[in-house]
Amino acid sequence: MPTAFTVRLARSGQDVPVADGQTVVEALAAHGVVVATSCAQGVCGTCLTRVLAGEPEHWDMYLSPEEQAANDRFCPCVSRSVTPLLVLDL
Ligand code: FES
Repeated sequence: MPTAFTVRLARSGQDVPVADGQTVVEALAAHGVVVATSCAQGVCGTCLTRVLAGEPEHWDMYLSPEEQAANDRFCPCVSRSVTPLLVLDL
């Protein structure tokens, strides 16, 4: 199980730490970056975000196994990161 990791916002170059027990959406919001959410449970896909580098750890039920395996999108309301750094298209 990963604990803390960092997400990098590709457009601004900003690094946002994600603490153990904190979702990526929560961490981003704490830094003033709002990702639209609806279910916040990994079901609806509203929060779907493109991943540019790093490997997400998928906890959602929205993407198919094949889509998850592509590792180019993830649901930051529930999913985390396998790699210490995840670069997002934000
Ligand atoms: S808000 Fe529904 S999947 Fe993230």
